[in-house]
Amino acid sequence: MKQVKAVIQPDKLDEVREALKKLPFYGGLMISELTGQGTQGGITQSWRGEKFQVDLIPKVSIDIVVRDEDVEAVIDAIVRHARSGEIGDGKIFVYNVERVVRIRTGERDEKAI
Ligand SMILES: Nc1ncnc2c1ncn2[C@@H]1O[C@H](COP(=O)(O)OP(=O)(O)OP(=O)(O)O)[C@@H](O)[C@H]1O
Ligand SMILES: [Mg+2]
Repeated sequence: MKQVKAVIQPDKLDEVREALKKLPFYGGLMISELTGQGTQGGITQSWRGEKFQVDLIPKVSIDIVVRDEDVEAVIDAIVRHARSGEIGDGKIFVYNVERVVRIRTGERDEKAI
């Protein structure tokens, strides 16, 4: 099992969520708000003639836990719906997941996703 974490632009969240919900194996997701920076280290903005650095940019992350064989379909859906082609579109990280337990039933691992 893998956890796919996509850090994306907040205005793409609804579209990406809709795409993920349509996947045949969809079982749920987690949404978090965060701030961060990528390779540009934030952006420079001007305000009343003063230039200042905004180094942490608001993003949202979507975490979805799936079977190994479903990871590529998740990545494809996220990239297709989160991409504008501009800097700051976001990034996807994939982690190993050791165990999953559905508390209500006690089901384990792939049965619990
Ligand atoms: N190497 C990293 N480690 C941890 N978080 C990262 C990393 N790179 C990006 N992030 C997270 O992803 C968000 C979006 O990153 P961003 O899309 O700007 O990546 P990038 O590598 O700068 O690509 P681009 O050149 O398209 O902007 C950041 O705000 C940060 O939260
Ligand atoms: Mg960037």
